[in-house]
Order: sequence, then structure tokens, then C-alpha cells
Amino acid sequence: MSQKIIEEIVREAGKILLSAHLQREDIHKKTGPANFVTDYDLRIQTFLIEKLSEVCPSAVFFGEEDTEGNKHGVGEGITFFIDPIDGTTNFLFDYRNSCVSVGMADHGLMTAGWVFDPYADRMYSAVRGEGAFLNGRRLLIEDRSIDDGIVAFGCARYNDGGAARMAAIVEKLFLSSLAIRNGGSAAIDLCRIAGGNNAGYIELLLQPYDYAAASVIIEEAGGLITQPDGTPVTLNRPCPVIAGTKTAYQEILRIYAEIEKGMGQEC
Ligand code: IPD
Ligand code: CA
Ligand code: CA
Repeated sequence: MSQKIIEEIVREAGKILLSAHLQREDIHKKTGPANFVTDYDLRIQTFLIEKLSEVCPSAVFFGEEDTEGNKHGVGEGITFFIDPIDGTTNFLFDYRNSCVSVGMADHGLMTAGWVFDPYADRMYSAVRGEGAFLNGRRLLIEDRSIDDGIVAFGCARYNDGGAARMAAIVEKLFLSSLAIRNGGSAAIDLCRIAGGNNAGYIELLLQPYDYAAASVIIEEAGGLITQPDGTPVTLNRPCPVIAGTKTAYQEILRIYAEIEKGMGQEC
């Protein structure tokens, strides 16, 4: 299977996002607070499933939106994890910080990922064992502590169960790092670790299609991404995610553990 062809398909999908003229009637509510889908999310996912099926007819698709061909599961052969627009709230408000994310697993192991930010014309890509790239330039993470870097975090209104825990973690990160950011697209913020812009990232609940592609990109660039207990991120269900340069990752794990301990004592 040609990775170059897949990259081209993801780039084409990004062009749909870039050329969007979003109207009020294109926006639809999903379950939970502040959770939306637009006709563009659906259109891009349908486009990706159609094109990727031509490249790999036996592939299974695990995409965020309910569209034809989307099975919401990990297949035994090739599975594509699709987030047609990561950063939908940004997209609704024309923040111009959203991307198309496509991860590829083979027999349950992540083997490749593409994250395309069409606003900045940035294509992050990686194939397991072949390195990570940004627009063709090899990415190698320089180690950095959080007190010497930016730490990004994610939180979504529709996943607000851990709000107090997240607020405590964010306060600690704010006081321990050079700066904190919440970009509104987990995939972009994760890829920014590979690109050297972010030292680390934390979010208490993410879906496989949010991090599947970025996880290969980070690891191939020399960074780390796991759950807070150090186990691998999961592909068949959502999980909490911590990622970073080697040092930043350890520091964020420690902050998470400290907050967990404190919250346990409060109960
Ligand atoms: C969301 C974004 C956001 C993150 C949320 C995700 P969506 O994805 O990645 O940054 O904090 O948890 O659900 O809904 O824009 O595809
Ligand atoms: Ca997402
Ligand atoms: Ca999405």
C-alpha cells in the first residue's frame, strides 16, 4: 500500500476543510454539552472512507462520525482511525486551528499516521520504523523540561467529568512550565510535540481517532505517549493521554500522580 497515496488523500480532505463556507444550517448538535458535528465533518469522513477503501478495499474504519462504512471498531487487518475535523469547535468559530487526522493500524498495532493542518499547510506524517516528518522534513525531538517549554492540555465540555482534577493539574502545570496552552485540537497539539513547539500534552479523556495518528508521529520523532499509568494508549476505547519529550513526559506523569494522590486524600 502506498503511503504517498494516503498522504495525498489526507491532503485532499484538508482542502475540503480549508474551502468550507460554514452556514448555521450546516451545524448539528450531538449528545452532551457543546458537542457539534457539521456537514463538513460528515463530508470529509465520507470522502476519506471512499478514497481509502479504493486504496485498501479490506480496511475497517473507526471514525468519529456516523457515516456509511464507519464501523467504530478495530479490525483484524488494516484499520483507519479517522477524525475528519479535529478541532470542530475551533472550526465553528473560524479559529483556523483544526486538522484532518488519519491513523493506520495493522492487526491492532499503530503503523502510520497523517495529521494535516490545512490552514498552516502543515502535513505531519510517520510510518513506524521510518521516522516522522513535517512537510517532508525529518522530525527529531530535542529533549526539554517543562520549565523550559510550553505544555498544552485539552478539555472538552462534553467530557467534563474530571473538571476539578483537570483544573488542579492545569494549575500545577502553569506554575511549573514556561507557559500553558489549550489549542482546541488534540491532534495538532500532540504533533506540536514532534515538531518541537510543545514540550508536553495532557488530556484526561480522548478517543482513539484523536490520538491514533499523532501517537505514531510522536514516537517516531523520539517522544513518548502513554496513559498516566504508563500503559500504551488504547485503540478500542477512549483513555487519558500524557505525551512529551522524554523529560517533560516524566514530569507530567509525576504531576498527574501528585494530583491524584491529593484528590484521593480529600475524599
Ligand atoms: C476535540 C479536540 C479537543 C480536545 C477534545 C476533542 P473534536 O476533538 O481534539 O482539543 O480537547 O477532547 O474531543 O471534537 O474537535 O474532534
Ligand atoms: Ca477529535
Ligand atoms: Ca472531530
